[in-house]
Amino acid sequence: MTKKRVFSGIQPTGNTHLGNYLGAIRRWAAEQADKTNFFCVVDLHSLTVPQDPAQLRHETRSMAAMLLACGIDPQQSTVFVQSHVTAHAEGCWLLNCITPLGWLQRMTQFKDKSARQESVLTGLLDYPVLMAGDILFYDADEVPVGEDQKQHVELTRDIAQRFNALYDTEFFVIPQPVIAKVAARVMGLDDPTVKMSKSLADKRGHAVRLLDSPDEILYVFKRAVTDSGREIRFADEPEKAGVNNLLSIYQAVTGKEKDAVEADFATARGYGDLKVRVAEVVIEALRPIQARHAELMADTGELDQVLAEGAARAREISQPKVDEMKHIMGLVAASVHPTSESGMPLQDRL
Ligand code: TRP
Repeated sequence: MTKKRVFSGIQPTGNTHLGNYLGAIRRWAAEQADKTNFFCVVDLHSLTVPQDPAQLRHETRSMAAMLLACGIDPQQSTVFVQSHVTAHAEGCWLLNCITPLGWLQRMTQFKDKSARQESVLTGLLDYPVLMAGDILFYDADEVPVGEDQKQHVELTRDIAQRFNALYDTEFFVIPQPVIAKVAARVMGLDDPTVKMSKSLADKRGHAVRLLDSPDEILYVFKRAVTDSGREIRFADEPEKAGVNNLLSIYQAVTGKEKDAVEADFATARGYGDLKVRVAEVVIEALRPIQARHAELMADTGELDQVLAEGAARAREISQPKVDEMKHIMGLVAASVHPTSESGMPLQDRL
């Protein structure tokens, strides 16, 4: 039986937090043997809003290092940087030429993001087409995304179906969005009624970022919003959302059953005690991840090697797909591909 192909795109922002880890990355690592996985750090997507060049470069490596530190194994999974594989940008152009403008103007994320900016870049509008290419050039069956990205995967399906219909082919696999069952839905520590989010993670007190120091983590947990009572139990009531979130984090990190979690706190002296103990398990869980991340970032030779191998594997799949697409669309094939083995410019070989 052939394994399902899974494509995950991750933006290289520095705010990767506990919710991302417990809700997504940790599971990707645990389940990587069951599927053929592509983990792509989508640096081209980051350029759709203004970026500081040095910071983007740093964050791109840091995000890749974080995936490895969290247990993504480059022997089992393909980890690469989007801009290292030119098929993504090249194929995006081809998809642009079959995607109606109206489809992009309707995207919720585009409407939200562009409303918040004075000058809206063309790339921001085109963002979902680049994303569609990421998925389609790998014949991905499944795309794990958060609820906010579901519309983009649906657009990807529409684009794929349109291409297949226009050229009367079954060239593109129609992918499925996979919305993670919220086994661990981590809420904001400053406001337990909203999901912990990257865009709020710069606000002190909201999130635990994976690279935060133990002191910072302790500080943030100590300030976590709870309620005026003193009952430490899992609860659905809105007023107990804070305590529920703390217990859920503790449960996700320790892997214990709910009963066992509540038993652990049966003798706790109030919420102060609860907060410190949750902070402690989080600090311990992040310690080896932070250590491995620091090691990979101290000398990036190993990391860059992993990314070079990942890009080579990714290219083997996506470039022939884009070449075939060019043929289907009526473009003349170059007799020798400019990035072929020899690496020699065409005219030198004639
Ligand atoms: N848009 C996604 C996000 O912000 C990132 C992304 C880019 C992606 N390309 C992708 C996700 C392909 C899944 C598949 O989270």
